[in-house]
Amino acid sequence: MSSVDSKLYQYAVSTAKEAVALDSQGKYRQAINKYQRAAEILMQFMKYNKNPQMRMLCQKNIEEYVDRAKILKSQLGGPRSARLSRRPGVSGGDDKSKAEAGVSSEEQELIDMISGTIVTESPNVKWNDIAGLENVKQAVREAIVLPIAKPELFTGARRPWSGILLFGPPGCGKTLLAKAAATECNATFFSASSADLLSKWLGESEKLISSLFKVARLKAPSLIFMDEIDSVATKRGEGSESGGERRVKTQLLSEIQGLKSTHDKILLVLGATNRPWDIDNAMLSRFEKRVHVPLPDLKARAGIFKIHTEGVDSALSNEDYVELAVRSEGYSGRDIANVCREVIMLPVRELDMSGLLEDSNKEVNVRDINLKDFKKTLKKVKPMTHPALLKQYNDWAEEFGEV
Ligand SMILES: Nc1ncnc2c1ncn2[C@@H]1O[C@H](COP(=O)(O)OP(=O)(O)OP(=O)(O)O)[C@@H](O)[C@H]1O
Ligand SMILES: [Mg+2]
Repeated sequence: MSSVDSKLYQYAVSTAKEAVALDSQGKYRQAINKYQRAAEILMQFMKYNKNPQMRMLCQKNIEEYVDRAKILKSQLGGPRSARLSRRPGVSGGDDKSKAEAGVSSEEQELIDMISGTIVTESPNVKWNDIAGLENVKQAVREAIVLPIAKPELFTGARRPWSGILLFGPPGCGKTLLAKAAATECNATFFSASSADLLSKWLGESEKLISSLFKVARLKAPSLIFMDEIDSVATKRGEGSESGGERRVKTQLLSEIQGLKSTHDKILLVLGATNRPWDIDNAMLSRFEKRVHVPLPDLKARAGIFKIHTEGVDSALSNEDYVELAVRSEGYSGRDIANVCREVIMLPVRELDMSGLLEDSNKEVNVRDINLKDFKKTLKKVKPMTHPALLKQYNDWAEEFGEV
């Protein structure tokens, strides 16, 4: 196992332990969340770990956690509106009297159904946490933030795009942008990883999707973020698509199609993918606005270095940051974040290796990070995006994109 692998696995184990502890203390709701989280982490882990025995073990554990969460859920029943609290002044629309009286049992059932797989908390990422990408930020503001904040401007022919797709190389800020948009626009935010929606362990994917859209409609204005949309929207008939997957896709298509007919309440779907060419045409046509999120340019790279070394004692000048930006051409934001993480650890590692951290009572001085640390690390941590792949994004953007 690589160290990343083993960290992920340990994280899953510790989350599962927390779940079991909460379970035995009778804190069932929290336990459900933790069981589901542990299962999700294991699923992530399985994406990268190819060891058959390890995979079997994980699969077994995932099933156990999901089963336990299901049992707890069915035993709990009862109201759980805390997590998806009703927005003041937004009525249900479909059934006004019920909505005003609180959450109906039918709604409650839907909410129960989507909670766990779908995160609804505001993510608290600010525009300033994202370096560069000025055009992209503007496009996202126009397509998402403004229609929700000022719906009166988007009437008649000036209707908002119901589906927006962010595409581009891995690690360049698509997920970050979606989160910043959600924080900014003050809508009810639903975030679903498409891989989770499809997960055969959680089952009931079609019901989950239809519940998701129903609740989003009830809680409008809403923003539904579907990350890694390619995994649920691959071209039809390709690969090893099962009947279940096809049904999920059809369901999702019809839900997004249905959005266009609800004029009065704003409900937007934001998809993100690093494999836009895998998305089936029918689905692609639902995403009317497609925004290319490219590799960071020079200025953005300098900004990313700054953001990811914030709060750490540093001997770097502004010119040094520009030099780093020059040296990191071809790096994604994630690559740069990895470089920074590595550099930040260097002074601590040095202290550790010289044995200075052994005495816990002794105060230690951690030295500043410097340009040399970065130069050394940049030689070690190489960019992950292959130039040929970049061309593929540019070609696709030219044919299908907008920004
Ligand atoms: N423009 C940026 N400014 C600051 N940090 C960035 C930027 N782009 C990427 N990062 C860093 O890289 C990480 C990965 O970014 P993010 O998850 O948004 O990528 P993504 O485009 O969604 O990638 P993927 O296609 O793999 O899902 C972020 O958590 C952040 O630390
Ligand atoms: Mg992402």
